Amino acid sequence: CGIVGCIGIEKPQKYLIEGLKELEYRGYDSAGIAIIDNKEIKVIKAVGKLKNLERKLDQVKFENPKLGIGHTRWATHGKPTEINAHPHTGQFSAVVHNGIIENYQEIKKFLEEKNINFVSQTDTEVIVKLFEYFCNGDPFEAFKKTIEKIDGAYAILLITKKEPDKIFFAKKGSPLIVAKNSKGIYFASSDAPLIGYAKQAHYLEDGEYGYVTENEIHIFQKNLMISPEFKDLPTDKESAKKGGFRFYMEKEIYEQFDILKETILGRNTEDGIKFDEVDKSFFNGINNIIISACGTSYHAGLVGKYLIERNAKIRVDVEVASELRYRNPLLTKDTLFIVISQSGETADTLETLKMAKEAGLKTLALCNVDNSSIVRVADKTILLRAGIEKGVASTKAFATQVMTLWMLSNYLGDINEYEAINSAIEATKVDTALHEKIKRLSKRYLHGHGFFFIGRDIFFPLALEGALKLKEISYIHAEGYPAGEMKHGPIALADPELFVVALLSKNILYEKTKSNIEELVARDATVLTISSEFIEMTDDFVKIKNSNHPMIEFFEMMVITQLLALEVAVRMGNDVDMPRNLAKSVTVE
Ligand code: G6P
Repeated sequence: CGIVGCIGIEKPQKYLIEGLKELEYRGYDSAGIAIIDNKEIKVIKAVGKLKNLERKLDQVKFENPKLGIGHTRWATHGKPTEINAHPHTGQFSAVVHNGIIENYQEIKKFLEEKNINFVSQTDTEVIVKLFEYFCNGDPFEAFKKTIEKIDGAYAILLITKKEPDKIFFAKKGSPLIVAKNSKGIYFASSDAPLIGYAKQAHYLEDGEYGYVTENEIHIFQKNLMISPEFKDLPTDKESAKKGGFRFYMEKEIYEQFDILKETILGRNTEDGIKFDEVDKSFFNGINNIIISACGTSYHAGLVGKYLIERNAKIRVDVEVASELRYRNPLLTKDTLFIVISQSGETADTLETLKMAKEAGLKTLALCNVDNSSIVRVADKTILLRAGIEKGVASTKAFATQVMTLWMLSNYLGDINEYEAINSAIEATKVDTALHEKIKRLSKRYLHGHGFFFIGRDIFFPLALEGALKLKEISYIHAEGYPAGEMKHGPIALADPELFVVALLSKNILYEKTKSNIEELVARDATVLTISSEFIEMTDDFVKIKNSNHPMIEFFEMMVITQLLALEVAVRMGNDVDMPRNLAKSVTVE
């Protein structure tokens, strides 16, 4: 999602539309703007491309527009319809919002009891309705009360007819930037829209809120006024879009830490897992689960099998969609059919979903794109909330898929791993020193006759995924293998030119996996071990933090394998974001 806003300039609609175009790269399925003109709020929204919004905007006559706010929406709560598009309005105000309001249902209920009606299915609408409920005197006081009441993550811009010369703003957990030039004041949720308009900007910190007038910015933190700290904006838009990283994939690896917080928001609670999208009763009578997916999503599914069988004691079969589809599988009605897809458009996955529906099975999609073909067909969907993924090699979507499956296994098994889930997210934070180490190490792994990634239990699918990442972007042959299976064939390949990445968990089958590593070392393979336990015998070692939960180790190792693939590919001189022969979404069979 993206946010823009401006005040003080002629034709604010121009900045708003241009700004939203700069945010297009973040993905969206609807867009809208609200402008105060002659004390009226004019709201224009459209589903689909920004062109649709521009066309509608052309039909609107403005007299003396003063200020406006705009938004591109990537659906997380409710379908991508015009009603659900931002800005959301009440009687006299409009709001745009990025993030998720965790307690929106509670607030909605409270307001509905006061006979306040809601028109959309979004969490955002509660902001403007709550604001208007509080707005009996000073609108800024009402705005403050509103943000005190909402929990979750947000970047908010709000305008109101009651004070038509101000934009109110608040930031917590979702980026928001404010900048000023000689003409006016501008907002954006990332740098790109501001470049060309201003040279410097204040990057709002969590907990900051306030309002702007035509030429002044008033920022508060805990009721105390603070001065903006202006920092230079980048000058290159392309690099700004990549957040200063060399590649989208790199940005997406780094962003997993924030994205995963969105994935669990409102779902991982101290009282256990909650999913707004599905009711427990949906799972009544389910004795088996089949998971169908392709590529990286299939690997996430394999992790899901270990987790669901262990935590929920339900049998799970995982199958590559292109195989499942043509083999006339035995589908019994006590089976829940789960499809996993980032894009929601993968042809083989979609066809297996249709097949399962026709056979009368209950179907559930874990998907990143609302209103995609898969979401439309499935009975129920849990959205992954990864945001748009630009790198063809999937990273953050995989992280959200595994996280969602982990939560689902907790949900089905009535298990509470609240703390471990939070700690696993912490483990995805990229340590720059570690990244530097991997960059240096990668130099040693550019030749040879191929890679094996090995692991046991959940670390076996992670090995498969690590190998896939490396293959996809470095074009070096790599295989993922169960560590215990190497001796049944592949070990014949062992020599110093065979590279092995060993995922050695302290918590699951440590001694057994260590023995497998020893067997390879004894046969002169070049081994890189990733573990919290130092292994002297291997050539290279990357240390992860010591933790007592395998999923925490999993997420930290995941980031390391992603960075390793990235750095090897960079050294090979490859286009990391657009690897040869691959497509982000495969709609052919
Ligand atoms: C393509 C992509 C992969 C992805 C797979 C499944 O092959 O290149 O990165 O894992 O499709 O895509 P989906 O969108 O269904 O997760």
